Amino acid sequence: MTKPKYYVTTPIYYVNDVPHIGHAYTTLACDVLARFKRLDGYDVTFLTGTDEHGQKVAKSARAAGVDAQAFTDQVSQNFRDLAAFMNYSNDDFIRTTEARHKTSVQALWRRLIDAGEIYLGSYAGWYATRDEAFYTDSELEKRPDGSLVAKASGAEVEWVEEPSYFFRLSAWQDRLLALYEANPDFILPKTRRNEVVSFVKSGLQDLSVSRTTFDWGVDVPGDDAHVVYVWLDALTNYITAVGFPDTEGDYARYWPADVHMVGKDILRFHAVYWPAFLMAAGLQPPRRVFAHGWWTNEGQKISKSLGNVIDPIKLVETYGLDQVRYFLLREVPFGNDGDFSHAAMVHRMNGDLANDFGNLAQRVLSMIHRNCDKAVPAPGGFSDGDRALLKAAAAIKDNMAAAIDVQAFHEALEHLWTVVRAANAYVDRQAPWALRKTDPDRMRTVLYVLAETLRHLAILAQPVMPDSAGRMLDLLAVPAEARDFAALTPAHAVQPGTSLPKPEGVFPRHVEPDADGA
Ligand code: MSP
Repeated sequence: MTKPKYYVTTPIYYVNDVPHIGHAYTTLACDVLARFKRLDGYDVTFLTGTDEHGQKVAKSARAAGVDAQAFTDQVSQNFRDLAAFMNYSNDDFIRTTEARHKTSVQALWRRLIDAGEIYLGSYAGWYATRDEAFYTDSELEKRPDGSLVAKASGAEVEWVEEPSYFFRLSAWQDRLLALYEANPDFILPKTRRNEVVSFVKSGLQDLSVSRTTFDWGVDVPGDDAHVVYVWLDALTNYITAVGFPDTEGDYARYWPADVHMVGKDILRFHAVYWPAFLMAAGLQPPRRVFAHGWWTNEGQKISKSLGNVIDPIKLVETYGLDQVRYFLLREVPFGNDGDFSHAAMVHRMNGDLANDFGNLAQRVLSMIHRNCDKAVPAPGGFSDGDRALLKAAAAIKDNMAAAIDVQAFHEALEHLWTVVRAANAYVDRQAPWALRKTDPDRMRTVLYVLAETLRHLAILAQPVMPDSAGRMLDLLAVPAEARDFAALTPAHAVQPGTSLPKPEGVFPRHVEPDADGA
């Protein structure tokens, strides 16, 4: 039987910047989707990469005093390193300066030309290099210092006049609205969908899709005075990576993408321009664009000028990798904005992880170690309470899967924690430490039920916390080949008599350096 496919993408990141929490967050969400789907039996392609052309990158390279290619080689590597550091499981890493991508962009361009969707004209209007975006007068506002900025992003604009190719976006209004109508989950969350629908309803203008005033980009086929507009170039990465312009092979298998994950600031490019380009070229639009929210730092907007940019590497060094991965997806309903604070981070780390999940594992495994010959105990008959806990554990997967399918990570984790809490309550109620003397058979049954519940919890925690969940599965002696979701059946239950390694804590507590006594 062939596996169902799943194709998930991150935005490709501008290489003018060092990686920060925003980049780490978008990719983390995709990593969890990819890991979840792989464990659930899907054939997954998870793509990330870097967006290396355009005026903004060219400017940063100039400022750094290096040529653009050398600059992008260097900065792109930071994003690759971050992916490894954060334990992201991306299957590919694309750079828009690669030959495969240039071929793909030019092929898409030719399709658009052949379809009569692009024409030559001239652009006179506002451009914000920071956003790499064109703005109309009504989208701008004046700052007290007299500068003109885009209302949506605060990016400064400059007046641009140059010959330009245009994409007939204005002709796509009805077909875009029909796409949103026919696919109610094409844009999530719903509130973002409504914003896009009203933007498109308000009317679309043709879009400038080439530039002539700099040359750091893909040449327009047949007219190398122009380079392709960086957003048309960048968006094309999603089909380049699956082999476009070859539309057989990987493209036929993986396209359309199941989810393009993006931040709310770049939704319009993905939910309006991109499906219009694709449909105009006779290609299928993606299945979904999910726009997540933005993080603030201790209540403040994150910005370089405020000097409060959050470095994901420092976070991980302070709190631990899986702790950070857990926090980012648990703290905020995915799609909403969220605030990073030390207090909130420590609260999750010590509360949810160390006290709830970690302590459950530690209590159960050390009781088994001390009282059951360091091996999975053999259960006797199950009580209703035992069956209820096992049933709750067996139900987590479907509940989590439903949440994951709409990118509700916080809910998926809540399903897991409902059972973590139920298991802790069960331990307290059954008091296996007291049964040791009064009813050792019953103690073994209780510890068996808990070990089997832990097996479910650890298998299902893997997408979010791969290392910690893996360690927990090691402590339960679950073989490597029995860690996917197909193993969440009674047939793969923990086996009485299996010897277990010496238990050790999986989720350390955060101790304030000055409270340490050190
Ligand atoms: N190059 C474009 C994307 C092209 S995709 C075809 C781009 N690059 S970016 O480097 O600016 O991307 C940043 C990503 O990080 C976006 O998804 C953005 O929403 C996200 N974030 C940037 N700052 C953020 C926060 N403070 N919080 C959460 N995410 C934020 O845009």
